[in-house]
Amino acid sequence: MERKRIIVGVAGGIAAYKAASVVRQLTEAGHSVRVVPTESALRFVGAATFEALSGHPVHTGVFEDVHEVPHVRIGQTADLVVVAPATADLLARAAVGRADDLLTATLLTARCPVLYAPAMHTEMWLHPATSENVATLRKRGAIVMEPASGRLTGADTGPGRLPEAEEISTLAQLLLARADALPYDLAGVKVLVTAGGTREPIDPVRFIGNRSSGKQGYAVARVMAQRGADVTLIAGNTAGLVDPAGVHVAHVGSAAQLRDAVSKHAPDANVLVMAAAVADFRPANPATNKIKKGPTEEGDPTIELIRNDDVLAGAVRARTDGQLPNMQAIVGFAAETGDANGDVLFHARAKLKRKGCDLLVVNAVGENRAFEVDHNDGWLLSADGTETALEHGSKTVIASRIVDAIAAFLHSGGG
Ligand SMILES: Cc1cc2nc3c(=O)[nH]c(=O)nc-3n(C[C@H](O)[C@H](O)[C@H](O)COP(=O)(O)O)c2cc1C
Repeated sequence: MERKRIIVGVAGGIAAYKAASVVRQLTEAGHSVRVVPTESALRFVGAATFEALSGHPVHTGVFEDVHEVPHVRIGQTADLVVVAPATADLLARAAVGRADDLLTATLLTARCPVLYAPAMHTEMWLHPATSENVATLRKRGAIVMEPASGRLTGADTGPGRLPEAEEISTLAQLLLARADALPYDLAGVKVLVTAGGTREPIDPVRFIGNRSSGKQGYAVARVMAQRGADVTLIAGNTAGLVDPAGVHVAHVGSAAQLRDAVSKHAPDANVLVMAAAVADFRPANPATNKIKKGPTEEGDPTIELIRNDDVLAGAVRARTDGQLPNMQAIVGFAAETGDANGDVLFHARAKLKRKGCDLLVVNAVGENRAFEVDHNDGWLLSADGTETALEHGSKTVIASRIVDAIAAFLHSGGG
């Protein structure tokens, strides 16, 4: 991606030190980053930290370098503004359009996407004043992330934690690639996403797994949540991914556990996205004790495999049987390779028909493709016969295109 101009606004919350990581990640991605803190922010982290990390001077007021008119120039020339952390006070000042420091003046002059990552105590976040300020900012097109839940300052826990720096910079990069990627258009939609690979126990120590990293499913859950959906993520084994902020995450191990979790949550859901790599087979008789290597004369052990339930097909069947009255869209994923019978798309079309889902995301797998990597490409097949290419891009960009297709499907009346 070409070098873009990013402004990182930092407000005065306890999480201000985490802004240093956001700045670091964005500069390492090759962008020019300028930090604009509030006066309060500099009581938490010194200007020297931000100046050294960004390579630019740091000011809080509008009366420094006046000849360069920074109170308008910084916002006008930005490609993206990220405010992390956004305090309750900063959100309030932005919502009423104040311009009493350099950051708020920048927010008024910026015409690029603006991403706020709020962080505050749960009481402040849930206060109607803050909710209304957030709603106002979203109505005007700003992207206000859902805060993460967890440990806050002191012993308190609840929603209000700053999302992880990695999550903020991932969404920032998405907005640089696609300025219109995060409309707030899925409020009230309940989404169930599965991601990652399952692990089928052989004995208490060993398992049969697969190479799914969970990155694509996590990216779909993250984009859905930032577009306002109420997202539950059922996560199998993943490559140590950060749980997306504002998403309810349930961790599972085996295909049977994943199936049970889907059965539990699907009746509430309007959308099911089956991005998990669910094992087709499992050991028929997992040993309760570790299988011992034993002497060579005892020969090699064999593992008998039996078929797992097909979770996607099961969900489609349950909907047909009237057990999922709220379900409007069922989305499958297919990791395919071509063979003597046909290419990737040939097999994918057959799978879409066989499974009966509404949309199928298709990835060609093979060496260094689809699994464990950060980029992806493929096709999006729809039950109505539409086939759209998903151009090569980060898994977050691909996720945003998949979510666009789901949103369009829901908008058109769904399944
Ligand atoms: C130790 C400490 C931690 C604070 N943490 C937060 C916080 O996480 N979120 C928040 O909204 N305000 C927090 N505040 C209150 C803000 O610093 C205060 O509202 C300030 O006016 C914010 O100014 P700013 O929005 O211009 O940066 C904290 C204050 C103190 C003293």
